[in-house]
Amino acid sequence: MSTKKFYIETYGCQMNFADSEIVNSILLEDGMVPAMEVESADVVLVNTCSIRENAETKVWNRLKELRKLKKSNEGLTVGVLGCMAERIKDRIIEQEHLVDIVVGPDAYRDIPRLLKEVDDGRKAVNVLLSLEETYADIAPVRTTGNGVTAFVSIMRGCDNMCSFCVVPFTRGRERSRPMESILKEIKQLSDDGYKEVTLLGQNVNSYKDGEHTFSKLMYEASQVDPEMRFRFSSPHPKDFPDDLLHIIAEQPNLCNYIHIPAQAGSDTMLERMRRPYTREQYLNLIDKMRSIIPGLSLSTDIIAGFCGETEEEHQGTMTLMKEVGYDLAYMFAYSERERTLAYRKFEDDVPEEIKKRRLTEIIQQQMDIQLQRNKAEIGKRHLVLVEGTSKRSDEQLQGRTDTNKMVVFDAWDFKPGQYVEVEITDCTSATLLARPIQLSSITEFYGAAVEA
Ligand code: SAH
Ligand code: SF4
Ligand code: F3S
Repeated sequence: MSTKKFYIETYGCQMNFADSEIVNSILLEDGMVPAMEVESADVVLVNTCSIRENAETKVWNRLKELRKLKKSNEGLTVGVLGCMAERIKDRIIEQEHLVDIVVGPDAYRDIPRLLKEVDDGRKAVNVLLSLEETYADIAPVRTTGNGVTAFVSIMRGCDNMCSFCVVPFTRGRERSRPMESILKEIKQLSDDGYKEVTLLGQNVNSYKDGEHTFSKLMYEASQVDPEMRFRFSSPHPKDFPDDLLHIIAEQPNLCNYIHIPAQAGSDTMLERMRRPYTREQYLNLIDKMRSIIPGLSLSTDIIAGFCGETEEEHQGTMTLMKEVGYDLAYMFAYSERERTLAYRKFEDDVPEEIKKRRLTEIIQQQMDIQLQRNKAEIGKRHLVLVEGTSKRSDEQLQGRTDTNKMVVFDAWDFKPGQYVEVEITDCTSATLLARPIQLSSITEFYGAAVEA
Protein backbone atom coordinates (compact mmCIF):
# COMPACT_ATOMS: atom_id res chain seq x y z
CA MET A 1 0.00 0.00 0.00
CA SER A 2 1.35 3.42 -0.88
CA THR A 3 2.04 6.02 1.75
CA LYS A 4 -1.04 8.08 2.56
CA LYS A 5 -1.03 11.83 2.20
CA PHE A 6 -2.93 13.98 4.67
CA TYR A 7 -4.11 17.57 4.68
CA ILE A 8 -5.43 19.42 7.76
CA GLU A 9 -7.66 22.49 7.58
CA THR A 10 -8.15 24.46 10.77
CA TYR A 11 -11.01 26.70 11.89
CA GLY A 12 -11.55 28.43 15.23
CA CYS A 13 -9.23 29.64 17.95
CA GLN A 14 -5.49 29.48 18.49
CA MET A 15 -5.99 26.35 20.52
CA ASN A 16 -7.39 24.56 17.51
CA PHE A 17 -4.36 25.64 15.49
CA ALA A 18 -2.11 24.29 18.22
CA ASP A 19 -4.09 21.04 18.22
CA SER A 20 -3.66 20.66 14.46
CA GLU A 21 0.09 20.71 15.04
CA ILE A 22 -0.31 17.84 17.49
CA VAL A 23 -2.38 15.91 14.95
CA ASN A 24 0.33 16.63 12.39
CA SER A 25 2.85 15.04 14.69
CA ILE A 26 0.67 11.97 15.35
CA LEU A 27 0.10 11.34 11.63
CA LEU A 28 3.77 11.79 10.69
CA GLU A 29 4.71 9.40 13.48
CA ASP A 30 2.28 6.91 11.95
CA GLY A 31 4.14 7.09 8.63
CA MET A 32 1.80 9.34 6.71
CA VAL A 33 3.11 12.33 4.73
CA PRO A 34 1.69 15.84 4.35
CA ALA A 35 -0.02 16.76 1.06
CA MET A 36 0.86 20.16 -0.39
CA GLU A 37 -2.72 20.92 -1.32
CA VAL A 38 -6.10 19.44 -0.52
CA GLU A 39 -6.56 18.03 -4.06
CA SER A 40 -3.62 15.67 -3.74
CA ALA A 41 -4.55 14.36 -0.27
CA ASP A 42 -5.87 10.88 0.55
CA VAL A 43 -7.11 12.07 3.94
CA VAL A 44 -8.52 15.55 4.62
CA LEU A 45 -9.11 16.46 8.26
CA VAL A 46 -11.14 19.54 9.13
CA ASN A 47 -10.48 20.85 12.64
CA THR A 48 -13.72 22.57 13.58
CA CYS A 49 -15.14 25.29 15.83
CA SER A 50 -18.57 25.54 17.49
CA ILE A 51 -18.28 28.85 19.29
CA ARG A 52 -20.90 30.67 17.20
CA GLU A 53 -23.43 29.64 14.58
CA ASN A 54 -21.43 31.20 11.75
CA ALA A 55 -18.31 29.25 12.73
CA GLU A 56 -20.28 26.04 12.24
CA THR A 57 -21.88 27.25 9.02
CA LYS A 58 -18.45 27.85 7.56
CA VAL A 59 -17.46 24.28 8.34
CA TRP A 60 -20.69 22.79 6.93
CA ASN A 61 -20.14 24.68 3.69
CA ARG A 62 -16.59 23.45 3.50
CA LEU A 63 -17.69 19.86 4.09
CA LYS A 64 -20.15 20.18 1.22
CA GLU A 65 -17.33 21.34 -1.04
CA LEU A 66 -15.25 18.41 0.09
CA ARG A 67 -18.13 16.07 -0.75
CA LYS A 68 -17.71 17.18 -4.37
CA LEU A 69 -14.04 16.36 -4.15
CA LYS A 70 -14.97 12.97 -2.70
CA LYS A 71 -17.11 12.28 -5.77
CA SER A 72 -14.21 12.81 -8.14
CA ASN A 73 -11.77 11.00 -5.85
CA GLU A 74 -13.40 7.87 -4.46
CA GLY A 75 -10.53 6.94 -2.18
CA LEU A 76 -10.69 10.25 -0.33
CA THR A 77 -11.28 10.06 3.42
CA VAL A 78 -12.77 13.13 5.07
CA GLY A 79 -12.65 13.59 8.83
CA VAL A 80 -14.01 16.09 11.32
CA LEU A 81 -11.87 16.97 14.31
CA GLY A 82 -12.33 19.41 17.15
CA CYS A 83 -15.19 21.17 18.81
CA MET A 84 -18.03 20.24 16.42
CA ALA A 85 -17.25 16.54 16.74
CA GLU A 86 -19.27 15.59 19.80
CA ARG A 87 -22.33 17.68 19.15
CA ILE A 88 -23.04 16.58 15.64
CA LYS A 89 -21.46 13.17 15.30
CA ASP A 90 -24.74 11.44 14.46
CA ARG A 91 -25.80 14.05 11.97
CA ILE A 92 -22.42 14.05 10.34
CA ILE A 93 -22.10 10.33 9.89
CA GLU A 94 -25.63 9.06 9.41
CA GLN A 95 -27.59 11.74 7.71
CA GLU A 96 -25.26 13.70 5.57
CA HIS A 97 -22.81 11.10 4.29
CA LEU A 98 -20.24 13.80 4.35
CA VAL A 99 -17.51 12.38 6.50
CA ASP A 100 -15.87 9.10 7.35
CA ILE A 101 -14.34 9.81 10.71
CA VAL A 102 -15.20 12.06 13.64
CA VAL A 103 -12.63 12.70 16.35
CA GLY A 104 -13.10 14.85 19.46
CA PRO A 105 -10.35 17.06 20.94
CA ASP A 106 -9.18 14.45 23.45
CA ALA A 107 -9.02 11.49 21.05
CA TYR A 108 -6.36 12.54 18.55
CA ARG A 109 -4.00 9.72 19.51
CA ASP A 110 -6.66 7.38 18.17
CA ILE A 111 -6.71 8.85 14.63
CA PRO A 112 -4.36 6.24 13.06
CA ARG A 113 -6.57 3.41 14.35
CA LEU A 114 -9.75 5.19 13.22
CA LEU A 115 -8.29 5.64 9.74
CA LYS A 116 -7.62 1.90 9.57
CA GLU A 117 -11.27 1.25 10.41
CA VAL A 118 -12.23 3.42 7.48
CA ASP A 119 -9.90 1.38 5.26
CA ASP A 120 -11.85 -1.69 6.35
CA GLY A 121 -15.02 -0.03 5.15
CA ARG A 122 -16.40 1.32 8.43
CA LYS A 123 -17.16 4.82 9.61
CA ALA A 124 -15.21 5.57 12.75
CA VAL A 125 -15.94 7.79 15.71
CA ASN A 126 -14.15 8.66 18.93
CA VAL A 127 -15.47 11.66 20.77
CA LEU A 128 -14.62 10.58 24.30
CA LEU A 129 -13.49 13.43 26.48
CA SER A 130 -10.76 12.78 28.98
CA LEU A 131 -9.87 13.97 32.46
CA GLU A 132 -6.14 13.57 31.87
CA GLU A 133 -5.17 13.95 28.22
CA THR A 134 -2.84 16.93 27.65
CA TYR A 135 -0.71 15.48 24.80
CA ALA A 136 2.23 16.48 27.01
CA ASP A 137 4.62 13.99 25.41
CA ILE A 138 3.77 14.88 21.80
CA ALA A 139 6.03 17.47 20.18
CA PRO A 140 3.82 19.51 17.85
CA VAL A 141 5.00 19.72 14.24
CA ARG A 142 4.67 23.31 13.03
CA THR A 143 4.36 23.27 9.26
CA THR A 144 2.23 26.28 8.44
CA GLY A 145 3.56 29.02 10.72
CA ASN A 146 6.02 31.83 10.04
CA GLY A 147 8.90 30.18 11.94
CA VAL A 148 9.02 33.16 14.30
CA THR A 149 5.93 33.01 16.52
CA ALA A 150 4.42 29.85 18.01
CA PHE A 151 1.56 28.78 20.27
CA VAL A 152 2.03 26.37 23.15
CA SER A 153 -0.96 24.78 24.90
CA ILE A 154 -0.55 24.74 28.66
CA MET A 155 -3.93 23.36 29.59
CA ARG A 156 -7.09 21.92 28.06
CA GLY A 157 -10.82 22.17 28.68
CA CYS A 158 -12.67 24.68 30.83
CA ASP A 159 -14.65 24.45 34.08
CA ASN A 160 -16.01 27.98 34.12
CA MET A 161 -19.39 27.39 32.57
CA CYS A 162 -20.07 30.94 31.45
CA SER A 163 -23.75 30.69 30.57
CA PHE A 164 -23.32 31.57 26.86
CA CYS A 165 -20.34 29.34 26.10
CA VAL A 166 -20.15 25.91 24.52
CA VAL A 167 -16.44 25.30 25.18
CA PRO A 168 -16.87 23.35 28.47
CA PHE A 169 -19.10 20.93 26.53
CA THR A 170 -16.88 20.57 23.48
CA ARG A 171 -13.54 20.41 25.27
CA GLY A 172 -14.43 18.90 28.61
CA ARG A 173 -12.95 19.37 32.05
CA GLU A 174 -10.05 21.63 32.74
CA ARG A 175 -6.62 20.04 33.17
CA SER A 176 -3.07 21.40 33.16
CA ARG A 177 -0.09 20.11 31.31
CA PRO A 178 3.03 19.44 33.45
CA MET A 179 5.29 22.51 33.68
CA GLU A 180 8.40 20.54 32.74
CA SER A 181 6.95 19.46 29.41
CA ILE A 182 5.88 23.04 28.62
CA LEU A 183 9.35 24.41 29.40
CA LYS A 184 10.94 21.66 27.33
CA GLU A 185 8.80 22.60 24.34
CA ILE A 186 9.71 26.27 24.78
CA LYS A 187 13.41 25.40 24.91
CA GLN A 188 13.05 23.40 21.71
CA LEU A 189 11.29 26.33 20.01
CA SER A 190 14.10 28.63 21.11
CA ASP A 191 16.69 26.19 19.70
CA ASP A 192 14.71 26.11 16.45
CA GLY A 193 14.93 29.90 16.13
CA TYR A 194 11.43 30.89 17.28
CA LYS A 195 11.29 34.30 18.99
CA GLU A 196 7.81 34.54 20.41
CA VAL A 197 5.60 32.09 22.25
CA THR A 198 1.96 32.54 23.27
CA LEU A 199 0.91 30.24 26.11
CA LEU A 200 -2.66 29.04 25.58
CA GLY A 201 -5.52 27.94 27.79
CA GLN A 202 -9.21 28.82 28.17
CA ASN A 203 -8.48 30.17 31.63
CA VAL A 204 -4.76 30.36 32.23
CA ASN A 205 -5.08 31.79 35.78
CA SER A 206 -6.18 28.43 37.03
CA TYR A 207 -3.11 26.64 35.61
CA LYS A 208 -1.81 24.29 38.28
CA ASP A 209 0.89 21.64 38.26
CA GLY A 210 1.35 20.59 41.89
CA GLU A 211 2.85 23.65 43.59
CA HIS A 212 3.43 25.43 40.31
CA THR A 213 1.04 28.28 39.50
CA PHE A 214 0.59 30.20 36.27
CA SER A 215 2.79 33.01 37.63
CA LYS A 216 5.56 30.53 38.32
CA LEU A 217 5.21 29.06 34.84
CA MET A 218 5.46 32.52 33.22
CA TYR A 219 8.51 33.36 35.29
CA GLU A 220 10.21 30.07 34.39
CA ALA A 221 9.33 30.58 30.72
CA SER A 222 10.91 34.04 30.78
CA GLN A 223 14.16 32.47 32.00
CA VAL A 224 14.45 29.95 29.15
CA ASP A 225 15.71 32.49 26.62
CA PRO A 226 16.06 36.25 27.30
CA GLU A 227 15.60 36.99 23.58
CA MET A 228 12.32 35.12 23.34
CA ARG A 229 9.10 37.05 23.99
CA PHE A 230 6.08 35.63 25.79
CA ARG A 231 2.36 36.33 25.66
CA PHE A 232 -0.59 34.38 27.05
CA SER A 233 -4.29 33.96 26.34
CA SER A 234 -6.75 34.02 28.03
CA PRO A 235 -6.81 34.93 31.69
CA HIS A 236 -10.12 35.36 33.55
CA PRO A 237 -10.87 38.65 35.35
CA LYS A 238 -12.24 36.80 38.37
CA ASP A 239 -8.92 35.60 39.77
CA PHE A 240 -6.07 37.35 37.98
CA PRO A 241 -2.95 36.85 40.15
CA ASP A 242 -1.22 40.01 41.46
CA ASP A 243 2.21 38.46 41.52
CA LEU A 244 2.00 37.89 37.76
CA LEU A 245 1.65 41.64 37.19
CA HIS A 246 4.92 42.24 39.04
CA ILE A 247 6.66 39.46 37.14
CA ILE A 248 5.49 40.96 33.83
CA ALA A 249 6.69 44.40 34.92
CA GLU A 250 10.09 43.03 35.90
CA GLN A 251 10.88 40.65 33.04
CA PRO A 252 11.59 42.51 29.79
CA ASN A 253 10.66 39.49 27.67
CA LEU A 254 7.16 39.12 29.15
CA CYS A 255 5.08 41.33 26.89
CA ASN A 256 3.30 44.38 28.25
CA TYR A 257 0.05 43.22 26.77
CA ILE A 258 -2.89 41.48 28.42
CA HIS A 259 -6.03 40.09 26.80
CA ILE A 260 -8.64 40.31 29.53
CA PRO A 261 -12.16 39.41 28.31
CA ALA A 262 -14.88 41.57 29.90
CA GLN A 263 -17.85 40.23 27.83
CA ALA A 264 -20.15 42.97 29.18
CA GLY A 265 -20.17 46.12 31.30
CA SER A 266 -23.16 45.93 33.64
CA ASP A 267 -23.48 43.89 36.80
CA THR A 268 -26.88 42.47 35.86
CA MET A 269 -25.55 41.21 32.53
CA LEU A 270 -22.34 39.82 34.03
CA GLU A 271 -24.51 37.96 36.52
CA ARG A 272 -26.66 36.40 33.77
CA MET A 273 -23.52 35.49 31.88
CA ARG A 274 -22.21 33.76 35.03
CA ARG A 275 -19.11 35.88 34.97
CA PRO A 276 -18.30 36.13 38.68
CA TYR A 277 -17.07 39.74 38.88
CA THR A 278 -18.70 43.15 38.93
CA ARG A 279 -18.00 46.12 36.69
CA GLU A 280 -16.26 47.81 39.61
CA GLN A 281 -14.05 44.80 40.34
CA TYR A 282 -13.13 44.60 36.67
CA LEU A 283 -12.25 48.31 36.50
CA ASN A 284 -10.21 48.04 39.70
CA LEU A 285 -8.28 45.17 38.16
CA ILE A 286 -7.56 47.28 35.05
CA ASP A 287 -6.33 50.16 37.27
CA LYS A 288 -4.07 47.81 39.17
CA MET A 289 -2.69 46.32 35.96
CA ARG A 290 -1.91 49.76 34.56
CA SER A 291 -0.33 51.04 37.76
CA ILE A 292 2.00 48.02 38.04
CA ILE A 293 2.85 47.74 34.32
CA PRO A 294 3.45 51.17 32.76
CA GLY A 295 2.66 51.31 29.03
CA LEU A 296 0.47 48.21 29.26
CA SER A 297 -1.80 47.57 26.32
CA LEU A 298 -5.11 45.78 26.75
CA SER A 299 -7.54 43.83 24.63
CA THR A 300 -10.86 42.20 25.36
CA ASP A 301 -13.77 40.08 24.14
CA ILE A 302 -17.29 41.55 24.09
CA ILE A 303 -20.68 39.99 23.40
CA ALA A 304 -23.56 42.16 22.15
CA GLY A 305 -27.22 41.18 22.47
CA PHE A 306 -27.04 38.41 25.05
CA CYS A 307 -30.34 37.11 26.47
CA GLY A 308 -32.52 39.85 27.94
CA GLU A 309 -30.05 42.63 27.16
CA THR A 310 -31.68 46.02 27.81
CA GLU A 311 -30.63 49.27 26.20
CA GLU A 312 -29.22 50.28 29.58
CA GLU A 313 -27.09 47.12 29.78
CA HIS A 314 -25.86 47.76 26.26
CA GLN A 315 -24.86 51.27 27.34
CA GLY A 316 -23.06 49.67 30.27
CA THR A 317 -20.89 47.75 27.80
CA MET A 318 -20.28 50.91 25.74
CA THR A 319 -19.20 52.97 28.75
CA LEU A 320 -17.01 50.20 30.15
CA MET A 321 -15.16 49.98 26.84
CA LYS A 322 -14.76 53.73 26.73
CA GLU A 323 -13.57 53.93 30.30
CA VAL A 324 -10.93 51.22 29.80
CA GLY A 325 -9.85 52.36 26.33
CA TYR A 326 -8.83 49.01 24.86
CA ASP A 327 -6.08 48.82 22.27
CA LEU A 328 -7.89 45.96 20.57
CA ALA A 329 -11.23 44.19 20.98
CA TYR A 330 -12.89 41.08 19.59
CA MET A 331 -16.59 41.86 19.38
CA PHE A 332 -19.39 39.38 18.69
CA ALA A 333 -23.17 39.22 18.40
CA TYR A 334 -24.56 36.61 20.78
CA SER A 335 -25.21 33.28 19.11
CA GLU A 336 -27.22 30.70 21.04
CA ARG A 337 -25.49 27.36 21.57
CA GLU A 338 -27.19 24.11 22.51
CA ARG A 339 -26.44 22.60 25.93
CA THR A 340 -25.32 25.89 27.50
CA LEU A 341 -27.08 27.29 30.55
CA ALA A 342 -28.40 30.19 28.48
CA TYR A 343 -29.93 27.73 26.01
CA ARG A 344 -31.64 25.82 28.80
CA LYS A 345 -32.70 28.70 31.05
CA PHE A 346 -32.88 31.97 29.14
CA GLU A 347 -34.44 33.18 25.96
CA ASP A 348 -32.43 34.45 23.00
CA ASP A 349 -34.83 37.36 22.85
CA VAL A 350 -32.89 40.34 21.51
CA PRO A 351 -34.12 40.76 17.92
CA GLU A 352 -31.46 40.23 15.26
CA GLU A 353 -31.54 43.83 14.01
CA ILE A 354 -31.09 45.19 17.52
CA LYS A 355 -28.17 42.83 18.14
CA LYS A 356 -26.62 44.02 14.89
CA ARG A 357 -27.19 47.68 15.67
CA ARG A 358 -25.65 47.33 19.13
CA LEU A 359 -22.68 45.40 17.76
CA THR A 360 -22.14 48.09 15.12
CA GLU A 361 -22.19 50.80 17.80
CA ILE A 362 -19.69 48.85 19.85
CA ILE A 363 -17.39 48.32 16.86
CA GLN A 364 -17.58 51.94 15.72
CA GLN A 365 -16.76 53.28 19.15
CA GLN A 366 -13.87 50.83 19.42
CA MET A 367 -12.44 51.89 16.03
CA ASP A 368 -12.45 55.51 17.22
CA ILE A 369 -10.75 54.57 20.48
CA GLN A 370 -8.13 52.51 18.65
CA LEU A 371 -7.38 55.34 16.26
CA GLN A 372 -6.91 57.75 19.17
CA ARG A 373 -4.69 55.31 21.03
CA ASN A 374 -2.63 54.59 17.92
CA LYS A 375 -2.21 58.32 17.21
CA ALA A 376 -0.72 58.71 20.67
CA GLU A 377 2.03 56.30 19.55
CA ILE A 378 3.31 58.64 16.83
CA GLY A 379 6.83 59.75 17.63
CA LYS A 380 7.41 56.90 20.11
CA ARG A 381 10.04 54.18 19.73
CA HIS A 382 9.16 50.50 19.86
CA LEU A 383 10.94 47.19 19.52
CA VAL A 384 9.29 45.20 16.74
CA LEU A 385 9.75 41.49 16.11
CA VAL A 386 9.71 41.00 12.33
CA GLU A 387 7.20 38.31 11.34
CA GLY A 388 7.38 38.58 7.55
CA THR A 389 6.79 40.80 4.53
CA SER A 390 3.87 43.18 4.66
CA LYS A 391 0.67 42.07 2.94
CA ARG A 392 0.67 45.15 0.73
CA SER A 393 4.28 45.40 -0.43
CA ASP A 394 7.33 43.15 -0.69
CA GLU A 395 9.51 46.12 0.14
CA GLN A 396 7.97 46.43 3.56
CA LEU A 397 8.01 44.19 6.59
CA GLN A 398 5.45 43.64 9.29
CA GLY A 399 5.74 42.64 12.89
CA ARG A 400 4.32 43.49 16.28
CA THR A 401 5.38 45.65 19.15
CA ASP A 402 5.74 44.21 22.63
CA THR A 403 2.27 45.75 23.16
CA ASN A 404 0.89 43.61 20.31
CA LYS A 405 0.34 46.40 17.79
CA MET A 406 0.96 45.56 14.14
CA VAL A 407 3.69 47.74 12.61
CA VAL A 408 4.67 48.12 8.94
CA PHE A 409 8.02 49.60 7.88
CA ASP A 410 10.63 49.60 5.09
CA ALA A 411 12.42 46.27 4.82
CA TRP A 412 16.05 47.44 4.44
CA ASP A 413 18.05 44.24 5.10
CA PHE A 414 15.98 43.04 8.05
CA LYS A 415 14.84 39.43 8.22
CA PRO A 416 11.93 37.65 9.88
CA GLY A 417 12.91 36.72 13.44
CA GLN A 418 14.97 39.87 14.01
CA TYR A 419 14.10 42.61 16.48
CA VAL A 420 14.12 46.09 14.98
CA GLU A 421 13.93 49.40 16.82
CA VAL A 422 11.46 51.68 15.00
CA GLU A 423 9.93 55.12 15.39
CA ILE A 424 6.19 55.36 14.79
CA THR A 425 5.36 57.89 12.07
CA ASP A 426 1.70 57.34 11.20
CA CYS A 427 -1.24 55.03 11.86
CA THR A 428 -4.69 53.74 11.06
CA SER A 429 -7.03 52.23 13.66
CA ALA A 430 -5.50 48.81 12.96
CA THR A 431 -1.84 49.39 12.03
CA LEU A 432 1.12 51.56 12.94
CA LEU A 433 3.49 52.79 10.24
CA ALA A 434 7.09 53.31 11.26
CA ARG A 435 10.59 54.32 10.26
CA PRO A 436 13.20 51.67 11.04
CA ILE A 437 16.13 52.86 13.13
CA GLN A 438 18.37 49.91 13.77
CA LEU A 439 18.66 46.22 14.44
CA SER A 440 18.26 45.65 18.17
CA SER A 441 17.45 43.03 20.81
CA ILE A 442 15.35 42.71 23.94
CA THR A 443 18.41 43.07 26.15
CA GLU A 444 19.67 46.17 24.31
CA PHE A 445 16.30 47.86 24.00
CA TYR A 446 14.98 47.35 27.51
CA GLY A 447 18.27 47.03 29.40
CA ALA A 448 19.20 44.16 31.69
CA ALA A 449 16.45 42.17 33.44
CA VAL A 450 15.51 43.15 36.95
CA GLU A 451 15.78 40.20 39.29
CA ALA A 452 12.36 38.96 40.38
N1 SAH B 1 -11.78 31.17 27.31
C1 SAH B 1 -11.80 32.43 26.69
C2 SAH B 1 -12.83 32.59 25.61
C3 SAH B 1 -12.85 31.62 24.51
S1 SAH B 1 -14.14 31.88 23.37
C4 SAH B 1 -12.15 33.41 27.74
O1 SAH B 1 -12.92 33.15 28.64
O2 SAH B 1 -11.63 34.48 27.63
C5 SAH B 1 -13.74 33.47 22.73
C6 SAH B 1 -14.83 34.47 22.86
O3 SAH B 1 -15.95 34.11 22.09
C7 SAH B 1 -15.40 34.66 24.25
O4 SAH B 1 -14.60 35.43 25.07
C8 SAH B 1 -16.72 35.31 23.95
O5 SAH B 1 -16.58 36.72 23.87
C9 SAH B 1 -17.08 34.77 22.59
N2 SAH B 1 -18.21 33.84 22.68
C10 SAH B 1 -18.25 32.68 23.37
N3 SAH B 1 -19.47 32.12 23.24
C11 SAH B 1 -20.21 32.94 22.45
C12 SAH B 1 -21.55 32.91 21.96
N4 SAH B 1 -22.37 31.91 22.29
N5 SAH B 1 -21.97 33.93 21.17
C13 SAH B 1 -21.13 34.94 20.86
N6 SAH B 1 -19.86 35.02 21.29
C14 SAH B 1 -19.40 34.03 22.08
FE1 SF4 C 1 -16.09 29.77 27.63
FE2 SF4 C 1 -16.10 31.08 29.91
FE3 SF4 C 1 -14.55 28.92 29.62
FE4 SF4 C 1 -13.96 31.17 28.32
S1 SF4 C 1 -13.97 30.89 30.55
S2 SF4 C 1 -13.99 29.09 27.48
S3 SF4 C 1 -15.94 32.01 27.84
S4 SF4 C 1 -16.78 28.95 29.63
FE1 F3S D 1 -11.80 27.22 20.10
FE2 F3S D 1 -14.02 27.25 18.74
FE3 F3S D 1 -13.46 25.20 20.20
S1 F3S D 1 -13.15 28.94 19.80
S2 F3S D 1 -12.24 25.98 21.87
S3 F3S D 1 -12.31 25.91 18.43
S4 F3S D 1 -15.45 26.09 19.98
